Amino acid sequence: MKRYILSLIAFSFLIFQIVFPTQLKAQEPAEWAACKVCHTIGKGRLVGPDLKGVTERRSQEWLIPFIQKSQTMVESGDPDAVQIFEEYKIPMPDNNLTDEQVINVLNFITNYVEPAEPVADATPTEEISEAYQPYSGYGPKDSRWTTALAVVVLLLILVDLSVTKFIKWKWLSMLLLFASLGFLSKVMYVEAKALGRQEGYSPDQPVWFSHKVHSGQNQIDCIYCHSTAYDSKHAAIPGTDVCMNCHNLVSTGTQTGTTEISKIQESWESGKPLEWVKVHNLPDHVWFSHSQHVNVEGLEDCVDCHGIVDDMDRIAQVYDLSMGWCLDCHRDTKVLIEDNDYYINFVKFHEELKSGLRDSITVEDLGGTDCSACHY
Ligand code: HEC
Ligand code: HEC
Ligand code: HEC
Ligand code: HEC
Ligand code: HEC
Ligand code: HEC
Repeated sequence: MKRYILSLIAFSFLIFQIVFPTQLKAQEPAEWAACKVCHTIGKGRLVGPDLKGVTERRSQEWLIPFIQKSQTMVESGDPDAVQIFEEYKIPMPDNNLTDEQVINVLNFITNYVEPAEPVADATPTEEISEAYQPYSGYGPKDSRWTTALAVVVLLLILVDLSVTKFIKWKWLSMLLLFASLGFLSKVMYVEAKALGRQEGYSPDQPVWFSHKVHSGQNQIDCIYCHSTAYDSKHAAIPGTDVCMNCHNLVSTGTQTGTTEISKIQESWESGKPLEWVKVHNLPDHVWFSHSQHVNVEGLEDCVDCHGIVDDMDRIAQVYDLSMGWCLDCHRDTKVLIEDNDYYINFVKFHEELKSGLRDSITVEDLGGTDCSACHY
């Protein structure tokens, strides 16, 4: 009987571990927070190498001083340290940790178990987010020539009506007159609406900062610098201290030599922040939150709203950020509310999906086109 109870306890413990593997995550040591912006365990290369199995590849005697002061080891000529630095070319910043703290992190890496995937969030279907096209309003750019033509026609008709009287049929003159007037007022309406919008805006910045060099060539994750995009309204622009994690050592660039990077070092020494010019600007009466969007699976890419940033030497606003742009996407994007507890309250939709009355739910159905969703 005793054995039976013991094995029952052991068995339930096992089940508990299987059902609640996230328990392991709770043991994540505080020191790891600083590492995980550059390293994964089993999810591939980030800024630095994947650390899965690193405690087998390398001895603890090597790992402890390397993690504390990697560049000191590189400079002292340690062959393994030199080799890995040559490969990554990005210096790992010093970590002010005691030996015990490092061992603590290393144990965490050795024993790390991938937590179970969290329940998927709202998922716009692949198909829709791929098919999503930029909103191409009737822009002033493409109407330049037709506008000029309309002005010419309008002037000719006015001259003909009052002076030359070349056109015999009055109705034809009137038709041309109203057509050109109508066209011009439409252009004026569109232009007026576009006032204050800035598609393609790409201002000069205080430092020649290239996303292509950092995110494209060096594969630095967007979140390394814009760390707040997932949990707040704004995606913060990184401070000089973030740049200095690497640029205390990387002091020349392939394209700009030392001129640009020295500005970062000056800012660091003088304590004067770099004054970046904000590129994307919504009017104050619009409410937009990053966390509401980037946690939606399928939109998390940033690409849907900012274009292919990792190919830009100089950042530019790709979409017009107009109300039509927001609404188009909200009307078209399907949200998968099945299997998602977050949407458990939308009972009506669940029933309609089940009974076949509807085959999908869009952001619009969830209230994403109500004026109050975006306007204060
Ligand atoms: C700013 C990014 C960055 C941070 C933060 C960072 N590392 Fe690194 N790490 C790197 C880079 C880049 C390398 C590759 C070696 C080099 O270039 O010097 C590396 C290499 C390593 C290596 C050697 C891997 C191997 O395969 O030999 C270990 C171990 C390591 N880091 C552990 C850590 C730990 C532990 C922390 C947190 C305390 C940490 N790193 C924080 C960027 C970083
Ligand atoms: C659904 C569209 C959308 C997605 C997805 C999106 N953004 Fe944005 N982003 C915007 C809009 C709109 C603004 C302008 C916000 C404002 O002016 O208040 C903006 C502004 C920014 C800014 C300037 C600072 C700010 O918050 O105003 C940064 C940096 C930024 N985005 C980075 C990112 C990154 C990194 C990602 C991916 C993790 C991302 N964005 C995903 C629409 C989006
Ligand atoms: C994780 C490491 C890392 C961080 C953080 C980082 N950089 Fe860099 N940066 C690099 C690397 C690597 C290069 C490429 C050097 C080369 O051209 O070989 C580089 C190059 C540059 C260059 C020169 C580009 C050229 O080709 O001439 C500038 C300017 C620059 N960075 C500015 C910044 C600014 C500003 C920040 C902070 C917002 C920043 N960097 C943050 C790693 C980093
Ligand atoms: C090394 C740090 C770094 C990384 C990595 C990085 N950014 Fe940036 N980002 C910056 C800095 C600095 C600025 C402000 C300077 C500028 O506008 O060029 C900026 C500006 C932006 C802006 C314009 C913000 C505005 O003013 O409206 C967007 C959008 C943006 N980043 C998106 C991204 C996306 C998407 C990625 C990933 C593909 C990414 N960034 C990766 C540092 C970084
Ligand atoms: C590329 C597609 C896309 C674009 C562009 C977009 N959104 Fe969204 N938005 C979504 C999705 C998807 C959701 C639903 C998120 C969810 O419910 O999980 C959403 C939800 C919202 C919500 C919450 C709505 C609610 O009732 O819960 C607000 C507010 C919002 N968006 C504002 C904006 C504004 C303002 C803009 C334009 C500046 C914009 N969005 C542009 C895809 C987009
Ligand atoms: C998905 C988000 C969203 C929803 C829903 C929304 N708006 Fe807007 N609205 C915007 C954005 C973004 C702008 C700024 C557009 C610009 O600068 O062109 C805007 C601008 C406006 C303006 C200023 C005029 C203009 O064109 O710039 C008015 C008025 C307005 N909205 C009214 C409404 C009304 C009424 C509703 C409800 C029927 C509504 N909006 C719903 C995002 C939204």
